[in-house]
Amino acid sequence: MKNKVILVTGGSSGIGFSICNKLADTGYIVYGTSRNSRNESHNGYKLVNLDVEDETSIIKCIENIIEKEGRIDVIINNAGLGIMGAVEDCSDAEIAKAFNVNVFGLVRVTRTVLPYMRAQKSGLIINIASIAGHMGLPYRGFYSASKAAVHRITESLRLEVRNFGVKACIIDPGDFNTNISNNRVVSNNILKGSVYADETKRIEAMINSEINKSLDAEIIGNLVLKILNTPEPKTYYRIGKISQKLSVKIRTVFGADLFEKILRKFYKLP
Ligand SMILES: NC(=O)c1ccc[n+]([C@@H]2O[C@H](COP(=O)([O-])OP(=O)(O)OC[C@H]3O[C@@H](n4cnc5c(N)ncnc54)[C@H](OP(=O)(O)O)[C@@H]3O)[C@@H](O)[C@H]2O)c1
Repeated sequence: MKNKVILVTGGSSGIGFSICNKLADTGYIVYGTSRNSRNESHNGYKLVNLDVEDETSIIKCIENIIEKEGRIDVIINNAGLGIMGAVEDCSDAEIAKAFNVNVFGLVRVTRTVLPYMRAQKSGLIINIASIAGHMGLPYRGFYSASKAAVHRITESLRLEVRNFGVKACIIDPGDFNTNISNNRVVSNNILKGSVYADETKRIEAMINSEINKSLDAEIIGNLVLKILNTPEPKTYYRIGKISQKLSVKIRTVFGADLFEKILRKFYKLP
């Protein structure tokens, strides 16, 4: 059914931008969001205003779409950001920012849209988490934790909303070449001479270089198309380089301690 109405949070850049383009090209009615939109048409989809940190803007955006289209069939919770810093270094405010966007923002959008989906007895919620949510990555503990929270919340949500005809699933991307490195929260303590400063900077440079030569986000649009045409979506869809997808399996099969050795070797940690 191509006339499905789809809302993608964070439709201005990176993965969200690619998903919006792919779905609009395929003929879906697509609304992407940005905190800085002037509610304009954008490559065949509408880019509308929404800040996942601001409940009022979420309600306004969703009510406007319902008023115009009469329904929202699919929500893709994609808006998010990275956070870089040692566990000891990150301040409450820095951690809160990451969780407010990546976790509470996703929950705010989901609970605003769900009453409409329950009333229409159908709907699909696709949450963009990360392969990083399956493991504690060095100097990215709070990013990993925020994405692990998305995993658990989505698993629970699936069980709760199925009875209302609503489905939910998770896309776990590996590294994709987007603006995520530029938009990342980096702990201020690194500038203040923290004992972790050198290692954090070294690993940040490593991650940025990996992201710069990683995959194009276009393929995530293809995965979303596949999910839209699946009657019973799986809980998890992993997408990325084979090594990144396999890492989750390796950790499950061989356990956290052996996996930690692999991480230490990869990141050149003692
Ligand atoms: N790139 C990767 O390697 C990778 C890997 C795994 C998971 N992910 C996840 O994929 C998602 C998209 O990331 P990306 O790589 O495409 O990053 P990106 O290029 O930096 O795009 C981030 C998007 O999120 C939106 N956004 C940020 N804060 C927001 C807020 N408070 N309210 C509403 N929208 C907000 C931005 O829109 P505006 O700034 O216009 O508001 C932008 O469209 C994130 O959840 C990220 O964690 C990315």
